Amino acid sequence: MSELTELYKEIAACQRCELAKGRTHTVPGEGPENAEIMFIGEAPGFHEDRQGRPFVGAAGKFLDELLASIGLTREDVYIGNVIKCRPPGNRDPLADEMAACKPFLDKQIELIQPKLIVTLGRFSMARYFPNTKITRIHGQPKRIGGRIYYPMFHPAAALHQPKWRSVVQEDMLKIPQILKEAEGLGEAEPLEQAAQLSLF
Ligand code: URA
Repeated sequence: MSELTELYKEIAACQRCELAKGRTHTVPGEGPENAEIMFIGEAPGFHEDRQGRPFVGAAGKFLDELLASIGLTREDVYIGNVIKCRPPGNRDPLADEMAACKPFLDKQIELIQPKLIVTLGRFSMARYFPNTKITRIHGQPKRIGGRIYYPMFHPAAALHQPKWRSVVQEDMLKIPQILKEAEGLGEAEPLEQAAQLSLF
């Protein structure tokens, strides 16, 4: 069994926070173990909780369209979330829930070693870009060590507010060029050791 599959089993058995009580399924994430691009969303919603798969509802359909606009399918990329269980009523994840789930996402990144991490929405953005606003920094890649981090609006934001739709679409179209830059970088270093360098 691969280490990632073992991790999925560990996530499925997790009781680290209250969300375990209300879930139908954990949603660990999915995609190739050697994916170059990793998208990190927020949390499973109703459909994800039912199916145990990330981004399978309306926001997921839009994400599929966005991927298609740059010639990719969801099988080409890794798709995960900051937390692996659905919060009741799709409320925002709480700090203690994100803290309880953090080791899982850290381990996923360590195993997959993506060259490019695309954060979808403010909760995954805050992992790498604390104390800022997504309206300020979306669409601006940042190199940290051997990896590029790229903040985008959450696809659901574009569904709720049509004015963000073209912004999300334009930010997505920059990804192929950013990936090229990321492929030219050396080994990704752990965040703590990496110098914080802006690439663009
Ligand atoms: N929104 C997310 O952030 N993640 C999902 O998996 C689905 C919707």
